[in-house]
Amino acid sequence: QRHLISAADLTRDDAVLILDTAEEMARVADRPIKKLPTLRGRTVVNLFFEDSTRTRISFEAAEKRLSADVINFTAKGSSVSKGESLKDTAQTLEAMGVDAVVIRHSASGAPYRLATSGWIDAAVVNAGDGTHQHPTQALLDAFTMRRRLVGRDAGLGKDLDGRRITLVGDILHSRVARSNVDLLHTLGAEVTLVAPPTLLPVGVETWPCEVSYDLDSTLSKSDAVMLLRVQRERMNAAFFPTEREYSRRYGLDGDRMAKMPGHAIVMHPGPMVRGMEITAEVADSDRCTVVEQVTNGVSIRMAVLYLLLGGNEPAVAHARPTEE
Ligand code: CP
Repeated sequence: QRHLISAADLTRDDAVLILDTAEEMARVADRPIKKLPTLRGRTVVNLFFEDSTRTRISFEAAEKRLSADVINFTAKGSSVSKGESLKDTAQTLEAMGVDAVVIRHSASGAPYRLATSGWIDAAVVNAGDGTHQHPTQALLDAFTMRRRLVGRDAGLGKDLDGRRITLVGDILHSRVARSNVDLLHTLGAEVTLVAPPTLLPVGVETWPCEVSYDLDSTLSKSDAVMLLRVQRERMNAAFFPTEREYSRRYGLDGDRMAKMPGHAIVMHPGPMVRGMEITAEVADSDRCTVVEQVTNGVSIRMAVLYLLLGGNEPAVAHARPTEE
């Protein structure tokens, strides 16, 4: 594939190749020199029209570890504020010689448009578009689940088959939920979505997962519980349950975590709203993988960029660390 737009575009073989390549990339982080020469001479632009902490910095770290030249663009402070379009912005950046564009945009479909419009020749990686998709987040989540629930030597045929994953919270506005449902289904996991009725999208019954309004009844049957932030910035206040009501029914606290099986993990893509969807006790417990997910994100993004730009050679086995 030339682009990564949606987790739904990945076959099981594609997904496992990325996860396995990310395991190789993770080994680079354990070396004294944390850099590979793989993308030397290639230029990647990080084109962020929406705020980000983890994804933006993680892509930048991944690109630098692969020795790519990195251009960071944020819409704030750019000529976007003067009315410049996505097309003109992208073509302006490509005119400076860009091999890949990592894009985050508030409009669902913006990365797809960039990849298929013919405006630019560069590879396009979706870093989150509106309420649509966030494929590298789903990949880093699957990588984290695989490591914690299956083991590092997981391979084709023994990935996340039969693992029971529960996603809790604002499914309606969540690109993370959509991407995870697609990818986890492809990898053989059984997904349950838990949310108040007002935070579930129309048509959710056609998604490849179960749906419940009752968190307490799903906890003892979950290998991983992933909490999602309530995205107030995307919502009409009239549909929003009060913070107290939400927390009482859907927040994960120590008592609820105790109902989960002993091996089960708590996940969150970040940013977390402590006290609402997750208590500090749970967020800071060793069952919570939120920081580990961030670390794994660098390996996943290295793997994605390597596979899109770096050719077909094995990623690490044949590549010596750079001397820089
Ligand atoms: N998980 C995630 O996408 O976080 P950021 O918005 O900080 O990138």
